[in-house]
Order: sequence, then C-alpha cells, then structure tokens
Amino acid sequence: MQVYGKNYHTIWVHPDNKCIIQVIDQRKLPFEFQIIDLKTTDDAYEAIRNMTVRGAPLIGVTGAYGIYLSLINSNDGNWKTNLLKMADYLKSARPTAVNLSILIDEMVSLLADCGTKEIACNMAFKEANRMKSREIAWSEAIGDFGCELIEAISKKKNGQPVNILTHCNAGWLACIDWGTATAPMYKAFQKQIPIHVWVDETRPRNQGARLTAWELSQQGVPHTVIPDNAGGHLMQHGLVDLCIVGSDRTTSTGDVANKIGTYLKALAAFDNRIPFYVALPSSSIDFAMKDGVREIPIEQRDAEEVSWMEGKLGNGEIGKIRVVNEQSPVANFGFDVTPAKYVTALITERGICNATEEDIMNLFPEKKDEMKG
Ligand code: MRU
Repeated sequence: MQVYGKNYHTIWVHPDNKCIIQVIDQRKLPFEFQIIDLKTTDDAYEAIRNMTVRGAPLIGVTGAYGIYLSLINSNDGNWKTNLLKMADYLKSARPTAVNLSILIDEMVSLLADCGTKEIACNMAFKEANRMKSREIAWSEAIGDFGCELIEAISKKKNGQPVNILTHCNAGWLACIDWGTATAPMYKAFQKQIPIHVWVDETRPRNQGARLTAWELSQQGVPHTVIPDNAGGHLMQHGLVDLCIVGSDRTTSTGDVANKIGTYLKALAAFDNRIPFYVALPSSSIDFAMKDGVREIPIEQRDAEEVSWMEGKLGNGEIGKIRVVNEQSPVANFGFDVTPAKYVTALITERGICNATEEDIMNLFPEKKDEMKG
C-alpha cells in the first residue's frame, strides 16, 4: 500500500543486507514515518512486545523472521537447542494473537530435519519470506471476497456511499499489505464503488484514530474518525450499512477475539440488524479451541496506556498527557471475545462462511486433525 505515494509492506528484508529485517515503527504513526532494523531475536521479540509491530498477521510474520534471526545468531553446535528456546521466547511476546504461535510452530517443524545450521538458515529465510507472501495473498483474497459484499449493498443504494464501520486497525499496517478488514474496502475503492468508513478511535492505544485513519487517508479512501461510543447511535440512525472487523484469534466454532470494544459493536449491530463481518486469514484461526470466552487468553496491558494519552502537543512535539485521576486504579484488557452468534459471517482467504464449526471445517477440511474432541 501507498505511503506518501510510495509502495510499502510493513515488514521486509533489508535490500542490501539479508541479515537485517526492516519494519515500520507503528508507535510513531501518524506523526512520524520511521523504519526500524531488526538484527537479533531480541529485536524481534521487543518489536512485538512493545508494539513497534502489531496486528495479528504482522506479529506472526515478525515471529517467523525472528526465528530466522535466531539461527543467524546461533552457534554451529547448539542451533537446534537454541531454536526451541528462541521459539518459546518469541511466542511469549504477546498472548492473544494466535498467528504468532502458529507461524513459529510451523517454522520449527519445517526446520527440524535440517542437517546443519547453514541449511537451517537458508531454509528459515526462504520460509519466512514465503509466509510473508502467503499472508499478502490471503489478505488480497479476503479483499476480493469481501468486496462482493460491499458491491451487493452498493447496488441497492443508487450511488450513495456504502457506510462501513470498523474497529481498531485490521489494515495493511497490521497485515503486511491490503489488511483484513480494510482489504474489501481497498478493493471496493479501486473498483470505484462509493464507500465511506467510520473509524472507531479504539481507546486506549487509538489504533483506529492513529493507524486506520492514516492508512485510509494515504490511499484516499473517504472516512471519519468517531469516538468508540458513537457506533450504536450511528447504527440506530441508518448510518452504518455493515461492520467489518479483524480478528486476533477465532475458535473453530467461530468465536472471535479482537481488540477490546469489538463485542459491544457486534451487540449494537445485532440489535439494529446490521451485518457484522469478521475478516481473517486462516493463520488467525485456532482450530484447537472451541469456547472463545473461556479459552482465549486475553492480554492485560499496562495501566499507563489508559491513564496517559499520547499525541501531538500544541508545540508540535509528540508527548503524553495524564487523563485519569492519579488515585484511581485502572484496568486495561487488550481484547474481548464476540460469541459466534453475533457474527454474520467470516470472510476468509477461501471464501465467506457462517461462523459455525461446520462451515469453518468445510472451508478448511485439512485442519480436522488439529481440533479438540
Ligand atoms: O493490540 P494490537 O494493535 O496488536 O491489536 C490487534 C489488532 O490490530 C486488532 O485487534 C485487529 O482488529 C485484528 S489484527 C488484524
């Protein structure tokens, strides 16, 4: 996708040095566009943990490159033991997005039979690149399927823009290219289908206001940022035609973990009979889980994210201001779970399906072995 007219992914191999992985520093957006070098497993771990990179698909691919970096930095003698240690370490960086453990486990099993460190390094490089390309292809396919939904609504609106509400950033920044929730929007926009996106600001980290709004404006897609509480009101007044959100982990039964606040949007959409779609690649489906509310680990984050807000100050500098009374305790749950019954359908790289175990397994029959009894 475009940044100031130039095409970027959110992660790539340094053009002159294949031992360096480069990423966009998402903590600085939209105020500064900075690129960061990842040279070691620690760099990859920290980038995931401190949210330099964020969004489930990007976290997963950063983990895969983290495995590659761990091999580059291993000794010839201990690379296999180190590989397992580094895999566990990287997986511990963030708990909710399942893509991280899925891609790291995939890397480890692909590398298990390598005879030497050199062979393993070459293979890890190739596989991490392949996973990156696969994620981009999946996002684009999600875009094509989701665009059909937008097009169908557009046909009934006689040229009036289709109003799409989204939460958090499930855009190309979170997914390397295209995005998951945003891919159908970008595809529709390219096809000149009139759309307008309501962007939830997404407290406390403001991924909507800071990231989704920025990336939509970079591509020229009409949008409006709204406070998180506004969605229900807009829905009651016919100002939302459909919701599309992403997912950090979806169970085999269709329960969806996504950024905190998603569940409330799904409830409001349900009450107003507005379709609520979840766009996600299969790398975000946890086929071993069935009950999202009970089983999905929900990250609890630093209270500072709630009690302080970061932004551009009046003097042009980036700074933080305290917004919560110093004596008041704060809770900061990063994600919530939307039960499958509130999800109209899932938009995946293989097509659109109901959020039910039967329909999900029909799309991904090869995953039957991973399911719990
Ligand atoms: O905490 P983050 O920024 O890593 O949150 C993840 C997300 O971006 C969202 O929950 C998103 O909607 C799903 S990931 C494409």
